Amino acid sequence: MVLLAAIDQGTSSSRFLVFEADTGDLVTSHQIEVRQLFPSAGQVEMDPMELYDTVVTCIHKAIEKLENLGISADEIKSVGVANQRETSIVWDKSTGKPLYNAIVWLDTRTSALAEEAISRTASKSQDEFKIKTGLPIHPYFSALKLKWLFENVPEVHEAYDAGNLMFGTVDTWLIWKLTGAYVTDVSNASRTLLLDLHKRKWSTQLCDFFSLPIEILPEIRSSAEVYGYFEKGPLEGVPLSGCLGDQQSAMVGHQCLNAGQTKNTYGTGTFMLCNIGTRPIISKNGLLTTVGFQFGADSPVVYALEGSGSIGGNVVRFLRDNFKFISDAKEMEEVCRKVEDTAGVYFVPSFTGLYTPYWDSTARGTILGLTQVSQREHICLAALRAVAFQSAEMIAAVEHDLEDTTKITSLKVDGGMIANKLFNEIQADIMGRDIVTPKITEISGWGAAVAGGIGAQQISLDEFLSQSSEAVRYTSEKDEQWRSKELGRWKEAVKRSCNWAH
Ligand code: G3P
Repeated sequence: MVLLAAIDQGTSSSRFLVFEADTGDLVTSHQIEVRQLFPSAGQVEMDPMELYDTVVTCIHKAIEKLENLGISADEIKSVGVANQRETSIVWDKSTGKPLYNAIVWLDTRTSALAEEAISRTASKSQDEFKIKTGLPIHPYFSALKLKWLFENVPEVHEAYDAGNLMFGTVDTWLIWKLTGAYVTDVSNASRTLLLDLHKRKWSTQLCDFFSLPIEILPEIRSSAEVYGYFEKGPLEGVPLSGCLGDQQSAMVGHQCLNAGQTKNTYGTGTFMLCNIGTRPIISKNGLLTTVGFQFGADSPVVYALEGSGSIGGNVVRFLRDNFKFISDAKEMEEVCRKVEDTAGVYFVPSFTGLYTPYWDSTARGTILGLTQVSQREHICLAALRAVAFQSAEMIAAVEHDLEDTTKITSLKVDGGMIANKLFNEIQADIMGRDIVTPKITEISGWGAAVAGGIGAQQISLDEFLSQSSEAVRYTSEKDEQWRSKELGRWKEAVKRSCNWAH
């Protein structure tokens, strides 16, 4: 039996997953929730050591479970990494210790830095570097986070002066800790605002613009090749041979390997990626252009258009942790099914701003339409609908960017929220497309495991594509008139949440 494994380090949890190469069946896994720290409104940090330690614990625990099944860890032939993207970490090469907490992708502390950067551009527009990078100048991406660290953390300067500063997104941090290699893959690099999307190299122009030293950046590699070998522990000597940002990884896991194929992942946020083939298309409708994957140094790079949403599973977590409306995410479906509709309530949970297509880091959450009859059930249902409305806006943007020549009639979905069947029905109704859930539930992990398997030559693309992945298809029960009225109301509510935090 050939087993392919994956580390999936996300914003909500760390996981280690072991799959059967032939079928994609999950043999075993272990998952640990990770803390998000909120030092003040709009700021989101994580402890880099906790990210690493939880990954290591997940590896040990999953391998224990594997051995309890009578399977030896020696059957694991490769490991791939899928990771939360953009989240930025700085550490000291000589001590291996972080110099500050990780600044998480959702963090908005660099809003003023973004404004200042935009004011220095020739066009005075956040899209000044969009043709080069596929991205707007925005706090979401790593460049401004690294700039903030340089400007605010003296230890970062000291480590730089001593020649010991290392910087990376979560993939780089984990791969370095586990194997000693100082690398990132091209899909993660494309989320920094420092990559030239066309040359797939760090851009000196952008590093100069943000006053960041290019020499500290990790080496850019393809998404499937051997970066190094585990240095210790139960995986000692196993190649770490795949790496993808978790959203690109889900795209691979869903087999969206051809142009036009589209997936949507409901993790902490929501991320829709449409494969656009080997030529980057620059969005005119608020989407990002990003590297999808590159399976080997000599293989073509495949790009994607991405709708990024700050609203996703974090809303369910908020209803659980802040409002205490539920005690477990699993209760959402039962609670929401208690009501027919939201009784006119609209919830825009833009806690840290809005991304696609608004890119407004000053937007803040709002609940509209409360009356004497409003109950927690209405607000919970409005939260599920908010996530689906956001996706409806993304899919419209993707089709416009493809000049309405490609109609996305069905959408492959994954992530924690799709365990909620009501949510899948809501998505189908609000988006007016078939919603297809996969047989493999851990789709991001599976994509990274496949990349690792390809990198270590344990599986070929053809073998991977011969597996079937569709499990359940949900079809809309609403008509266009209903959809357009509902979307109109949502857009009205969004307007009221925008331009708020100054
Ligand atoms: O861009 C951020 C994204 O990679 C986070 O993914 O799964 O942690 O919501 P997730």
